Amino acid sequence: MTRIHNENYNHLEPKEIADGVYWIGFSEKDSKLFCNPYIIVDGDEAVLIDSGSRDSFSTVMLKILRIGINPKQIKRLIYHHYDPDLCGSLPHFEAIIDSPDLRIISQQSNILFLNHYSSQTPKDCFMDLDFEYTFGDGRTLKFIHTPYSHSPGSFITYDIKTKTLFSSDLLGGFDNEWRLFNPLKDSCHNCSPQQLCPKNSSSCRLYGIGRFNQIAMSSAKALRYALDKVLELDTKLIAPQHGSIIDSEKDKHTIINYLKSIDNIGFDYFLKGEAK
Ligand SMILES: [Fe+2]
Ligand SMILES: [Fe+2]
Repeated sequence: MTRIHNENYNHLEPKEIADGVYWIGFSEKDSKLFCNPYIIVDGDEAVLIDSGSRDSFSTVMLKILRIGINPKQIKRLIYHHYDPDLCGSLPHFEAIIDSPDLRIISQQSNILFLNHYSSQTPKDCFMDLDFEYTFGDGRTLKFIHTPYSHSPGSFITYDIKTKTLFSSDLLGGFDNEWRLFNPLKDSCHNCSPQQLCPKNSSSCRLYGIGRFNQIAMSSAKALRYALDKVLELDTKLIAPQHGSIIDSEKDKHTIINYLKSIDNIGFDYFLKGEAK
């Protein structure tokens, strides 16, 4: 399986974005909010991250099978919070994996709600796991709490081996012209984001990221706290649950600096009368 370096690939195929890390999402015409489930395969073990909505189950499952994974190899399901766009398919995965080894990793306040999707699979709060999960061969995932970005129990997951950060809604974005990899143009780094690019009238990726975070995150304080947690990590890829993968340091810093500059986030966005 080849890695993606451009957009010339078949969206029906799983895409290896780093060693053993696969994007298993898909793009939907007319949707402005694409969901990105991922799976990490290591030896004969796999961990599924933010598996997706109920309607996306068949597509996501097909992609997992195309990697060559037997569902029983999936040992953990990670849910970064409890929204239906990422855990609506939980009961379907639980049924198809059908293994006593399966466990769910999330955070205690998320688990209260995850129990409404699934009461049978054991669930672990990442804090009780010393903030990490280790595969059989030693590959380690680190969990970082990002409270109120956007749920109280929201967290992000860092794969030490590939320096891939699974950021869930954090650093996600709305996108009218979505591509899995969509690097910022040189001119974006010194531009004031607006709906349409002043240079070529295309949809502005930074603007879409800003609007999504204004709506989805709870406050500028919470968002800035979470972004500082991201900056503490040495990342090669940032793989959000919505929008495009961030694969350069320059893009990462431009996006984070822009988000930190926005004061009207969440409730303040509402108070300013900007929220629809
Ligand atoms: Fe969410
Ligand atoms: Fe989401």
